[in-house]
Amino acid sequence: MSATTAAAGIPRRAAVVDDDRLVRQLVRATLEARGYQVLEGESGAAGLRLAREPLDVLLLDLNMPDINGLAVCRAIRGSPAMADVPIMFLTASHDERTVVSCLQAGANDYISKPFAEAILQARVDMVVRAHRAERGRRRALEELSTAYEALKESRADAALNHRLTGLGVLASGLAHEMNSPLGALLSCLDYVVDDPPDPEEAKVALHEARQSAAKIAELVKRMKAIAGTGERRLAFIDLKAQCESISRVFTGQPVRLVVKGDSVVVAADASELHQALMSLVENAVQAAQHASAGRVDLAIGTDGDRGIVTVDDNGPGIDAADLPFIFDPFFTKKRLWTTPGLGLSIARAAAHRHGGDLRIEAHGPLGGARAVFSIPLQATSRPG
Ligand SMILES: Nc1ncnc2c1ncn2[C@@H]1O[C@H](COP(=O)(O)OP(=O)(O)OP(=O)(O)O)[C@@H](O)[C@H]1O
Ligand SMILES: [Mg+2]
Repeated sequence: MSATTAAAGIPRRAAVVDDDRLVRQLVRATLEARGYQVLEGESGAAGLRLAREPLDVLLLDLNMPDINGLAVCRAIRGSPAMADVPIMFLTASHDERTVVSCLQAGANDYISKPFAEAILQARVDMVVRAHRAERGRRRALEELSTAYEALKESRADAALNHRLTGLGVLASGLAHEMNSPLGALLSCLDYVVDDPPDPEEAKVALHEARQSAAKIAELVKRMKAIAGTGERRLAFIDLKAQCESISRVFTGQPVRLVVKGDSVVVAADASELHQALMSLVENAVQAAQHASAGRVDLAIGTDGDRGIVTVDDNGPGIDAADLPFIFDPFFTKKRLWTTPGLGLSIARAAAHRHGGDLRIEAHGPLGGARAVFSIPLQATSRPG
């Protein structure tokens, strides 16, 4: 077997430090036969110098005239620049205490002189393999922790981007929705103030101005509903009675509304709850109008400590591509002036303020979308 790693293709490098030239020659010949590049040093000082080279193993004589091997070994282990190199002692001593001192000084292994070539090769190979494996493990760990840090950073960036994008969508949606009624309002006022018409025409213009102002007021009311800035008063409300009263609003529409289930009483702000459920039923009715026999089912029930209202329709359902965006304020697929795309935002914000939730499924049992509105049976004191 050649002493080059197949993966890295880098020749293994060894250094032998011994004041005995014959020992150095023997080690060199033995390791070169295994494909090692071998450097030589004849003193402790040379050992310290060689330890700064990129080495796979340093073979170190124990007794040298200038600095003995133990002191060289300790100096190497104490220096961050060299500490990593594997060290093997070459010792003529078989004394247990000497072996223990070598290992305590930081040696990876030792070999007694005189040595058989095959044993030297095998022991050196073992130390080199173990060291390379350890280095590989350490590098993999470092790469893993770098990758983990990068992932953490990119997640933080993604969360920030998501919030900034949400803010941008909200701002541009609001600007878009305000723009036309505000433009209409201003031009009506300009007309009346700059070029006073006769009283009848002025009345028509002011009437239009009032309608535009009302649209802006409605938009502000809806934004406030999302923000939950109004005063909240909790009352005991029967979800079933609430759903029946909402479904009566749609009497006369070409959609059949059915309310099922028992009475379930929750503690909620009546106006917020009404607005939330109304938004869901409005969506369902509008979707069911696309079916030949439109149908909307409202089912009242409980799940643990929560009251549940499930709204199903037999409309077209929701495209999978739209599903991630339907709760974004101003997201709408309805090209009507009256639908700014705030219904689901309002409904979910109300659910959350009461400690509940709103879930939308693209396709429910009637084929159209399914909305599942949940609210705790007992009041929670979550601030708005
Ligand atoms: N039951 C449903 N069936 C099909 N699509 C739905 C349903 N409910 C919601 N959607 C989709 O989700 C979008 C967002 O709904 P949301 O209620 O927030 O806004 P909107 O209905 O468009 O406008 P607004 O409720 O403000 O009048 C809708 O435009 C529609 O595309
Ligand atoms: Mg809606």
